[in-house]
Amino acid sequence: MSSTEGLDLSGLPQHVAIIMDGNGRWAQKRGLPRTMGHRAGMDALRATVKALDAMGIKYMTVYAFSTENWKRPEEEVGMLMSLIREYIYKELMALHRQKVRISVIGDSAQLPEDVRKKMDDAVAKTKDNPGMRFCIALNYGGREEIVRAARSLAERVQAGELLPREIEREEFAACLYTAGMPDPDLIIRTSGEMRVSNFLLWQGAYAELVVTDCLWPDFREEHVHKAIKEFQMRQRRFGGISEGS
Ligand code: IPE
Ligand code: IPE
Ligand code: MG
Repeated sequence: MSSTEGLDLSGLPQHVAIIMDGNGRWAQKRGLPRTMGHRAGMDALRATVKALDAMGIKYMTVYAFSTENWKRPEEEVGMLMSLIREYIYKELMALHRQKVRISVIGDSAQLPEDVRKKMDDAVAKTKDNPGMRFCIALNYGGREEIVRAARSLAERVQAGELLPREIEREEFAACLYTAGMPDPDLIIRTSGEMRVSNFLLWQGAYAELVVTDCLWPDFREEHVHKAIKEFQMRQRRFGGISEGS
């Protein structure tokens, strides 16, 4: 049976966001260093991008490194940074051929220079691609993003460009890293953890959450389809009441 069976291709989420968690536990279970789990996670990411793109999903965002992940041992942080660079180096041509448009959200100023450069190149190279928008959250934190938006609006008020009463949700959203992107409809988290860990705090206000016990390095197309099927069984109400109630 194909894992797409039972999927309603007309009721797909527009934007799928993923908290790629469980790399460390995957490695520990095998008696390997944690960094081997991060490396294995690259295969999961490749497969997931392909699966979502093949289904016609328009936007995907992945949580690759949080503003809190700097707390990890220096060696692990260094390895994560080099894997991110390696991922872009290895995948860029294939993503470009797939017509994927890459974006990066998060505070890039703190990233190692070579990683920032690789990311900037990938964004520039793919900027006119008409396919799926593939957004990588790198040194991203939802609270940091909100504070940054507040600061930028305050500066515009101070400069006399904006009145405080003119600040509405739209003005605020336009100052977030995700400006111009629709909110995620579905947030998937692997490895069983039931929390959002500072991911898309504003944007995820009405996202459906799907948590799977699958550890990120084991995540493949069938898990993508299963998560989307679960999403399709949810009744989204956005604070209202269901039709027919
Ligand atoms: C996710 O896996 C990768 C990042 C957070 C960068 P973890 O490294 O958090 O894996 P666990 O949660 O320790 O298993
Ligand atoms: C969230 O995972 C961050 C990423 C997946 C990049 P963490 O492993 O850092 O989250 P916590 O510490 O379990 O909340
Ligand atoms: Mg984790």
